[in-house]
Amino acid sequence: MEHESGYEVSPTAADAMRRSIDSEALYAKSQEDLLTATSINPTPTTVPPPIAALAGNIGERHVLIFIGLPLVGKRTIALRLKRYLRFFHGAKCKAFDIAKFSPAANGGNQTTMTSPMDADAQALDFFDRLRNFLEGSDDKPPQAMEVDDVMTAFAARRASVNGVDPVDRNAKNVDSGRVAIVFSSDAMSTFYENWSGSSKERRRWILARLATLSDSSKSKIRVKTIFIEVTLTKPDLVDNILEQKLDRDVREGRLRNSRDRDTAASEWKDRVNDYRKLYVTLQEDGSEDDLSYIKLINYGERVLTNRMRAYLPQRIVQFLTATHPTKHTIYLCRHGQSEYNTTGRLGGNSPITERGWVFAEILARFAAEHVCNLKEVKTPQSTLCSDLDDPYLAATPGETIWSSRDASDPKGASVPSRLWTSSMLRTIQTAALIPHPVLKLPDGGNWESMSPRVYRNIDEIFAGDCEGMTPDEVAVAHPQATTLRKMDKIGYRYPRGESYFDLISRIEPCIQEMESYTEPLLIVSHQAILRCIFAYLTGVDRESAPGMETQIQQNVVYQIDLDASSEGKITGDPNHPPAFVTVHDFRREVEARVTDRRAAGGSGFYPQGR
Ligand code: F6P
Repeated sequence: MEHESGYEVSPTAADAMRRSIDSEALYAKSQEDLLTATSINPTPTTVPPPIAALAGNIGERHVLIFIGLPLVGKRTIALRLKRYLRFFHGAKCKAFDIAKFSPAANGGNQTTMTSPMDADAQALDFFDRLRNFLEGSDDKPPQAMEVDDVMTAFAARRASVNGVDPVDRNAKNVDSGRVAIVFSSDAMSTFYENWSGSSKERRRWILARLATLSDSSKSKIRVKTIFIEVTLTKPDLVDNILEQKLDRDVREGRLRNSRDRDTAASEWKDRVNDYRKLYVTLQEDGSEDDLSYIKLINYGERVLTNRMRAYLPQRIVQFLTATHPTKHTIYLCRHGQSEYNTTGRLGGNSPITERGWVFAEILARFAAEHVCNLKEVKTPQSTLCSDLDDPYLAATPGETIWSSRDASDPKGASVPSRLWTSSMLRTIQTAALIPHPVLKLPDGGNWESMSPRVYRNIDEIFAGDCEGMTPDEVAVAHPQATTLRKMDKIGYRYPRGESYFDLISRIEPCIQEMESYTEPLLIVSHQAILRCIFAYLTGVDRESAPGMETQIQQNVVYQIDLDASSEGKITGDPNHPPAFVTVHDFRREVEARVTDRRAAGGSGFYPQGR
């Protein structure tokens, strides 16, 4: 059997490759045939080069302990970090909420200390759970190893070549790293738990306990422990988190009226003040300099790190510097219909069609009214300006003029907002009609709202040799591409092109920036990219993202409202998005307007030259 590369692949290996369901594989499954001996490469590498999305993360164990006062957003940040490390770094992550294991937090006496014996027993039980996760002994055995003797032979061959025991979890290609994230959703009640890390002694206890893993465990795992302390010093940030908590309690029926709410607010403030007297912050007097830690002060505003040199710790610092639980909204939409879309061609850089421009017009109004809260000054004519020679210049809608609202407006002040497009003509054109007036900020500064920013990182997947082809043409020109891509859509790299893993790596810097924003952000991009961003934001596994074939439609805007409660709403199911997603579906409106324009003899619709 001939592989696309022109090398011979033995039928057994090819079969094994197809049947491979090794869930722990660290490489793209579609590259597995490259590990097979051929006549010109009789001793192949046992593991292909690591894909970028997994680099530097092999076999390591991290325990991240969130500490700090109650009501600072620790739980939200901990769960977001988990989502980020899974999606962008392929790490196996598990969150451990101390409050779930603590009798004090589960209705016990919250004002008195748990007896030392109870506390020890709980701490050890908690430790066992952590150890099981870190050692991987709570995993189901990989199905392929059990049922597929071809795969067993394949694993044995790997072992015999590099001399590595296939069950050694430190070995390259066996495990992609594990991160245990420990936090308390009820820091007040769990104060006396050793795992709360609320004093120097408790932090030492945690370190000593985790150090025993490297001596006692079968696999001799090494564990890096990192403390993450979240502190808020700004009253507006404290109030914001408290408000979000009270809103949640009202929504979920724990509080009934505004009197309840006021009482609850003052109780919470008292509880935080009590806790402040007991809690011992990470010390900078030299006594805790041997610890790895991050101090987040007002989220990313001031970040202090100690002993955080290494691949994953540095990624963690970067992410934590960006993320925050303050309310903000991300809007995602695909470009309007492009010329290539009409014939089903992949990639390219074609302009948008009449239907695409109709969506651009609708999107401009949506952005002005819904995202930025602008005021329409003059009703638009139904024509778009038609004298632009440069296709990259914004076509301005005929007569529409938008102005800003100030705080005295009954509809409230206009909202400073952001806009990103890819560098491709079809997204730039789709966003070209969006107005971007200059707004006055409360501090007296100016903000050009929706000022367009072009990012190459969010360009569509590059299909390499298949660019510009239809799927049928791909099937003829690259017969293996269709099969391999079906088998492993996330890992399959188009010949001289990209895979979804490549996309995930290249959007990561943009995601970091997106996380840091508090203003609404509208992203006009492409199908494959938006599947990844949408999956990440809604907590869908990255392996499922490429298969989200129906979730991201053209002529639809997906509104994603994030706040301190969003992590709790995540479903992880691509077919049931969480409640914080609102879908603005303009498909019918686009079709109706196209029909009307054509009925009215709508020629001259496009700006010239398109
Ligand atoms: O067909 C439109 C398009 O954006 C192509 O340019 C791109 O190759 C494709 O969608 C990505 O979708 P999929 O990964 O499902 O092929």
